[in-house]
Amino acid sequence: MNKNITIAIDGFSSTGKSTIAKLLAKKYNYIYVDTGAMYRAVTLYAKNNNLVSDNFLDATTLISKLDAISLSFKFNKNLGFAEMYLNGKNVEKEIRTLAISKLVSKVSEISEVRKKLVKEQQQMRKNNGVVMDGRDIGTVVFPDAELKLFMTASANKRATRRYKELLERGDEVKFDEILFNVQERDRIDSTRKDSPLIKADDAIEFDNSDMGITEQFNRICTLVEAKIAN
Ligand code: DC
Repeated sequence: MNKNITIAIDGFSSTGKSTIAKLLAKKYNYIYVDTGAMYRAVTLYAKNNNLVSDNFLDATTLISKLDAISLSFKFNKNLGFAEMYLNGKNVEKEIRTLAISKLVSKVSEISEVRKKLVKEQQQMRKNNGVVMDGRDIGTVVFPDAELKLFMTASANKRATRRYKELLERGDEVKFDEILFNVQERDRIDSTRKDSPLIKADDAIEFDNSDMGITEQFNRICTLVEAKIAN
């Protein structure tokens, strides 16, 4: 009999993790959790409360407010995925701006923030059948995940994808600024003390610099089906 599994997708920013994760969740009827959205929502809260800016972070006050930060996902039927809510407000658009991308790695370094979010992520698994993407899913959140993927692509390719996405949304952005942000987040995410972005020993690496979504998705589905079947 087929079983439900946990799929952990980690990797650098803008490697298309969420695109693959959404497709997998749809195909196998799994829950999809975008953990980056949760770190972004905490960052938005910190920004709105003047606890973080480009050259400032009041970690102590943010830590003291963590219990007042309520995060939830609500499925949007029209979009086909769950949107992020911060204290009951839909913040899906606000959390995707470059302003938040610039601050999020700094907030994600705070151990107390990670502890809160990891706990909430673990509670979302319930009966398996979950695909979760982020930076520490295969290493910290679900070290027992049946399938772990680690996505990479050149910084240039990733920045180009992100740049197009933001332009399509109508944001005014410069390519160099996006490239710098992608590289800076790689650096902070991979070198932070608590749960740095590293490939789990048993994760399968995908470099999708020159691989289209369809090819990648088909390859990953083969891996999923092998895990589901045994
Ligand atoms: O996946 P994303 O680019 O939306 O994630 C935004 C940031 O959140 C990323 O640069 C680092 C942080 N993050 C994290 O530290 N751990 C996760 N599991 C997910 C995201």
